[in-house]
Amino acid sequence: MQRIAIGGISLNVEQRGRGAPLLLVHGFPLDHSMWRHQIDAFGARFHVIAPDLRGFGQSDATPPGTVTMAQLADDLAGLLDALGITQPVTFCALSMGGYVAFSFVRRHAKRLDKLILCDSRAVADTAEAAQNRGALADRVLAEGSAVAAEAMLPKLFAPLTAEKQPEVVEQTRQVMLRVNPIGVAAALEAMAVREDSTGLLPTIQVPALLVCGEHDGISTPDEMRGMAQAIPAARFEEIPAAGHMAPLEAPGPVNRAIAQFLGVTTA
Ligand code: MLT
Repeated sequence: MQRIAIGGISLNVEQRGRGAPLLLVHGFPLDHSMWRHQIDAFGARFHVIAPDLRGFGQSDATPPGTVTMAQLADDLAGLLDALGITQPVTFCALSMGGYVAFSFVRRHAKRLDKLILCDSRAVADTAEAAQNRGALADRVLAEGSAVAAEAMLPKLFAPLTAEKQPEVVEQTRQVMLRVNPIGVAAALEAMAVREDSTGLLPTIQVPALLVCGEHDGISTPDEMRGMAQAIPAARFEEIPAAGHMAPLEAPGPVNRAIAQFLGVTTA
C-alpha cells in the first residue's frame, strides 16, 4: 500500500503488476479491498491501480460540501498524474464508483480507453432519495459509521452469498464500520446532488462492459441492460446468483467477463 499526495490530500492506493493501466474504483461506503479478486486476477497482465477514494479506507477525508463526483473524478486524474500514468486507462467501477466514472467521462475523456461499469446507475437521485441521503448523513455524523453499515449491508448481497459466504458479508461489514464518518457523510451529500447521466450514455465513445448481479436490487439487471443499449459500443453481462457486489460475490464469472472484454485470459 502507498499514500500518494494529490492536491492537498493523500490517497491510499494498492498497485499491482505492469502493463496497460486498469483503474478499480470502489462503491459506497467501501474501500479498494472489495476488488481483491480482480487485483489478484489482473495484476499479472495489467498495471492495476486500486485507490481508496477521498473519505474512504485509509485515504484522507474532507468535510461535507467539499466532495462532489467531479472532485472524486479529478482526484483520480490527479492520482494518475502523480503515478506518471499518461496512457488512457480502463476505468472499472462499482456503483458509486460508476457515478465517479461518468464525471471522469465528462472531464477527462482523453484519459479513458475502456469503461467497465459494475452494478451502477445512470439516473440521478429522486428528491426523496436525496432527502434520505441527507438524513442518513446527519445520523452518521452524530452516531458514527455503523448507521451507514446498518442501512447498506442488507441491500448489498444476494441471498446465496449470505448463506454460502457469510465471511464475505462480515468482512464487508468490518470495512464499513472502520470508515471515517466524515467521509461517509460527504459522499452521501455528493451522491444526492450528482448529475443525471442518462443523456451521457449515447455520447460515450469507448468500448464498455456493463456487469450486473442477477439479484441486484439497487441497480437492477433490467436497468443496466437498458444502459448498455444506450451506449454505442457496450455489452451487458448478468452474473447469476450474485447481488449488488457481483465482483466480490462471484469473482469467477465477473473476471471471465472482464477478461473476455479486455481480450486476455486471467491468472
Ligand atoms: C454503492 O454501492 O456505491 C451505493 O449503492 C451507491 C448508492 O447508494 O447510490
